[in-house]
Amino acid sequence: MKASAGRYGLVWWLQVLLPFLLSLFPGALSDQIRYSIPEELAKNSVVGNLAKDLGLSVRDLPARKLRVSAEKEYFTVNPESGDLIVGDKIDREQICGKQPLCVLDFDTVAENPLNIFHIAVIVQDINDNTPLFKQSKIHLKIGESTKPGTTFPLDPALDSDVGPNSLQRYHLNDNEYFDLAEKRTPDGRKYPELILKHSLDREEHSFHQLVLTAVDGGDPPQSGTTQIRIQVTDANDNPPVFSQDVYRVTLREDVPPGFFVLQVTATDRDEGINAEITYSFHNVDEQVKRFFNLNEKTGEITTKDDLDFEIASSYTLSIEAKDPGDLAAHCSIQVEILDENDCAPEVIVTSVFTPLPEDSPPGTVIALIKTRDRDSGENGEVYCQVLGNAKFILKSSSKNYYKLMTDGALDREEIPEYNLTITATDGGKPPLSSSIIVTLHISDVNDNAPLFQQTCYMVHVAENNPPGASIAQISASDPDLGPNGQVSYSILASDLEPRKILSYVSVSAQSGVVFAQRAFDHEQLRAFELTLQATDQGSPALSANVSLRVLVGDLNDNVPLVLYPALGPDGSALFDMVPRAAEPGYLVTKVVAVDADSGHNAWLSYHVLQASEPGLFSLGLRTGEVRTARALGERDAARQRLLVAVRDGGQPPLSATATLHLIFADSLQEVLPDLSDRPEPSDPQTELQFYLVVALALISVLFLFAVILAISLRLRRSSSSDAWGCFQSSQCSKPGPEVLPNYSEGTLPFSYNLCVASQSAKTKFNFLNVTPELVPSQDLLCDNASWEQNTNHADAGVPFASDTILKICYDWDFRQLLSPSGSLLFKFLFYFLLAS
Ligand SMILES: *[C@@H]1O[C@H](CO)[C@@H](O)[C@H](O)[C@H]1NC(C)=O
Ligand SMILES: *[C@@H]1O[C@H](CO)[C@@H](O)[C@H](O)[C@H]1NC(C)=O
Repeated sequence: MKASAGRYGLVWWLQVLLPFLLSLFPGALSDQIRYSIPEELAKNSVVGNLAKDLGLSVRDLPARKLRVSAEKEYFTVNPESGDLIVGDKIDREQICGKQPLCVLDFDTVAENPLNIFHIAVIVQDINDNTPLFKQSKIHLKIGESTKPGTTFPLDPALDSDVGPNSLQRYHLNDNEYFDLAEKRTPDGRKYPELILKHSLDREEHSFHQLVLTAVDGGDPPQSGTTQIRIQVTDANDNPPVFSQDVYRVTLREDVPPGFFVLQVTATDRDEGINAEITYSFHNVDEQVKRFFNLNEKTGEITTKDDLDFEIASSYTLSIEAKDPGDLAAHCSIQVEILDENDCAPEVIVTSVFTPLPEDSPPGTVIALIKTRDRDSGENGEVYCQVLGNAKFILKSSSKNYYKLMTDGALDREEIPEYNLTITATDGGKPPLSSSIIVTLHISDVNDNAPLFQQTCYMVHVAENNPPGASIAQISASDPDLGPNGQVSYSILASDLEPRKILSYVSVSAQSGVVFAQRAFDHEQLRAFELTLQATDQGSPALSANVSLRVLVGDLNDNVPLVLYPALGPDGSALFDMVPRAAEPGYLVTKVVAVDADSGHNAWLSYHVLQASEPGLFSLGLRTGEVRTARALGERDAARQRLLVAVRDGGQPPLSATATLHLIFADSLQEVLPDLSDRPEPSDPQTELQFYLVVALALISVLFLFAVILAISLRLRRSSSSDAWGCFQSSQCSKPGPEVLPNYSEGTLPFSYNLCVASQSAKTKFNFLNVTPELVPSQDLLCDNASWEQNTNHADAGVPFASDTILKICYDWDFRQLLSPSGSLLFKFLFYFLLAS
């Protein structure tokens, strides 16, 4: 327990009484800050420094907004100093009435973070009320025959103060006939009673005048007086007598006005008018008269108004029965009020923190709830709960306060808004309850990464697509709100490296549409893979990756290419030789073709378009193999021509043609003359080709001589006579520098090395070798004799030449044949040899 004494220190009774009281209510007063002040303090008096006692620093005060939350503002908090200040005059008697301990309970609220502190201010009594009699004069009639010892109860004096300041004693002025006794009513109030000391004698004194004084225990004591005037009457009758001195009755608080409570009866043994008894309330509070009616004649007591246990739990009614002779009797009625559960609990929401971020951890305080029930006992015990949502709990904070807290993870994407019903139920039978709905909005946090609709994408794109065509669309969703859910797309990586991705594909950041930036070519790029990223605009942003595989489909856009037989402007130069005795099925040659497309578009088939002798050769549809279909007959020509079409399987198909020249011969010598004086006058193109080649050969020879001349000039200048030998006979007559004055070392761009070795003729025909450097003259190999020998051999028809040609036909790489220069050179040589 935190206890703090204000500047009005605790008085003695607090030290003595308080520990005792506190031990009676340990729960109720725990966690409280307590001050003690005297009542009737001037406005703006300081009770104590609340900020200091709560442990708040004065600097924080503006932010914490410390304030008093109470129904009646007796106190305020000074916002600068944190002092608790008296806001209004406090009259203890008005607030607490007769209660011995007057405590003002209220709460103070501090914000950021929200906190509630319970404060109790004990209001001490001061002696500000004097004892007062209701009447300043009391008239009594006492019969002269009244016996000594008879008592006459008198109205008590009232003093609103409590404890020592309340009424303490009565005293009577000194007199001969009367004494004073102090009695207590069943509810503990002191009232005076006159006691007759001696018999009265009306004839002696028909009147007696007394002064009754009531004194309280204050310091200084205060007092009030009343005068008692006693008239001594003649004769004595029988006084009325009540059937009971004390009546007890129990009433439920919810009885309606006019409810019959009880009937008191007094009897008088007198007869006639002397027995007519009238009843009246005697010496009772205004409170009693407000709630109860007494029938003067019958003594019936009924209720007058709605009773409320919360206002008073019991009443004491004093009733006087009087006969016409003013003889009276008294009785008292104890009315106990039974509490009914007539007040529903109230739920008050002090503060709600909404919207709540969805990532708030379990245990986040959302609202402060206060409950109140005016009933007492079990009827006033309130139990509070959140209905229907396991994600929220109410935690009892203190006394009647509850904290509404989260008890699990929240997800705005699942539930963006909660209507929480908070129900308070009391412990009555049957219980009463009330509820309140707190609307809680959940605010968005970027807690969802974009999610692609597919784990990976694959698209087929036919080649030769138009540049700029959209080829695919990727799409990712993000359930977050606003920018947290706005997705943009980008290309992260690809396997196109080192090619530039951007020259191949691009993606629209907004729509996720993927565009081709160029026409794709299946023959160059069959497939590629992109890694695309979707990113939201949250902070920090979240992203997801996905792969997109683009397969470039084939179109039949490539014509079959015939590798063998090579197609040139003079394709007739090539021939295949078939032995005359070839059996049917003899493999003559094979048409070789390729197609850059794939699949069906590259599945080639071979067809004979034209044959000089149909039926003599067969062509493998798929293999391209040319075989003899039957043996050569007597009437068949030795030279045959086949026009072959090569067609692919595309839709529509593309095709190429090749011409095959087949010659039936048993040796090459047999073929060559046949070839050389091939008439073919019908083909002027072949003739033209022939002259072209001859011209080329002549130019080449002239060029060779020019080269040899240049080299010989250079050799002569270097005066190396031993290396000069081979050209001396023809070239030495003219000195080099005169003929070609500009030729000097380094000016010749290439040196040509012409080497035709007799031994090498059987292996490779490496006849022209271009080297980009000047070859030193000593290394120049020049075999004049073998050159001449070779040409002579050709003249004489020595088999050397035919061997070499066959070698050339079959050893020459197909690719070299394809290159125009390669085939031209080959043919040049061929014709050169033939011509010579
Ligand atoms: C919560 O209550 C409000 C107002 O009655 C209503 O408009 C809203 O739809 C309710 N929300 C839910 C989630 O029930
Ligand atoms: C996406 O890929 C990038 C680069 O490879 C990587 O840094 C990032 O972590 C990936 N993101 C996810 C969500 O996997």
